[in-house]
Amino acid sequence: MLNFKYSIPTEIYFGKRQIKNLSSGIKKFGSTVLLAYGGGSIKKNGIYDEIIKIFSDNNIKFIELNGIEPNPKLTSVIKGVDLCRNNNVDIILAVGGGSVIDCCKAIAAGVYYDGSPWDFCIGKAIIKKALPIGTILTLSATGSEMNGNAVISNWSTKEKLSLSSPYVKPKFSILDPTYTMTLPAKQTAAGTVDIISHVFEQYFSNTEGTYITDRISEAIIKTCIHNAPIAMENGNNYDARANLMWASSLALNELLSYGKVTDWATHAMEHELSAIFDITHGIGLGILIPHWMEYVLDEKNAWKFAEYGKHVWGIADIENKLSMAKESIKKTSDFFVSLGIPKNLYQVSITKNKLEEMASKAVSRGPIGNFKKLYKEDVLAIFKKAF
Ligand code: NZQ
Ligand code: ZN
Repeated sequence: MLNFKYSIPTEIYFGKRQIKNLSSGIKKFGSTVLLAYGGGSIKKNGIYDEIIKIFSDNNIKFIELNGIEPNPKLTSVIKGVDLCRNNNVDIILAVGGGSVIDCCKAIAAGVYYDGSPWDFCIGKAIIKKALPIGTILTLSATGSEMNGNAVISNWSTKEKLSLSSPYVKPKFSILDPTYTMTLPAKQTAAGTVDIISHVFEQYFSNTEGTYITDRISEAIIKTCIHNAPIAMENGNNYDARANLMWASSLALNELLSYGKVTDWATHAMEHELSAIFDITHGIGLGILIPHWMEYVLDEKNAWKFAEYGKHVWGIADIENKLSMAKESIKKTSDFFVSLGIPKNLYQVSITKNKLEEMASKAVSRGPIGNFKKLYKEDVLAIFKKAF
């Protein structure tokens, strides 16, 4: 295990009716809020009305930014920056899934920066200050509610890149699992795959001596495998929703990356798919993961896949680790299929003529992944296999 510093400053209010903490959470930072949300799900399920009532009962002034897209666009970030500057906003409240929260993080940092917020994504500028952010999470998936990452799409360059800074970690997040009960089964499935993929990106590592993190990781994966089918069958099952929600936060709040080198190749590849074809992040990952696993598997690392299969899927421990590893990969793929995730890229309207371009872009800043370094020809081979 490598050295690390433990710091997860976001206050979490978890459970039913935790929105009761909204007003006090905001008032620590001021009383003018940018209320940011997506395409309208929070109006349909009543969360919006609850928030407006709390604002009006507590003399909280607000300005709205609505219509933040899935795979949030730079144009929405710029709109939000202008709104914050023109209205002297004290704090941003992001209500939604990862897309809304990510957009708000880029806005929060962009307010204090003279150039384009895109500069944070291309490494041209470093975030030195940001407006405070609070979140109300409505989709269990990205972990954005408890981390300092944001992924932004620049539609004019067809790029999807991330920024990362401790300054944009939410000050508080309200995690009420009942708010996820209106999610369509497709989003529950995609969110679950995203959670599992975050664990994989950190679990498949060459750092030795990470027993504790590995066992926590396996527990989070098992939580997803157990609860996603229940939540998809009965969207109102509170405990299934609650377990998925906490799994989402724990999978990507740095807990699983402390003391180890992590991978992130599958995410780098998926971001190229959604940058050009605007597909759902978790679905792109679900298609790529089994192919990535098959591609990187070799005699030397087979023990890791075998250990995963034994602890997560209950695969019998035999001497032939390669055979155990292959069974583990098949179990993973079958599980994704059982959630309704397609097996191939063409099924989500990805076209073959773009594979080469996407592979080049994925490695434009150098090879990706650490469990096994991937170069352009590797990425292209994985895309072709997944096609
Ligand atoms: O826009 P609305 O109308 O709210 O609808 C959304 C959206 O269409 C809907 N939805 C959300 N909560 C709902 C609901 N519908 C009904 N009931 C509810 N309770 O779900 C759709 C998808 O929402 P989105 O926020 O896009 O999904 P997700 O949370 O999966 O976020 C995906 C984005 O996060 C990035 C992804 O790349 C993608 O851009 N990621 C962010 C990460 C981070 N910040 O750490 C890490 C991830 O790996 C990921 O890359
Ligand atoms: Zn992800």
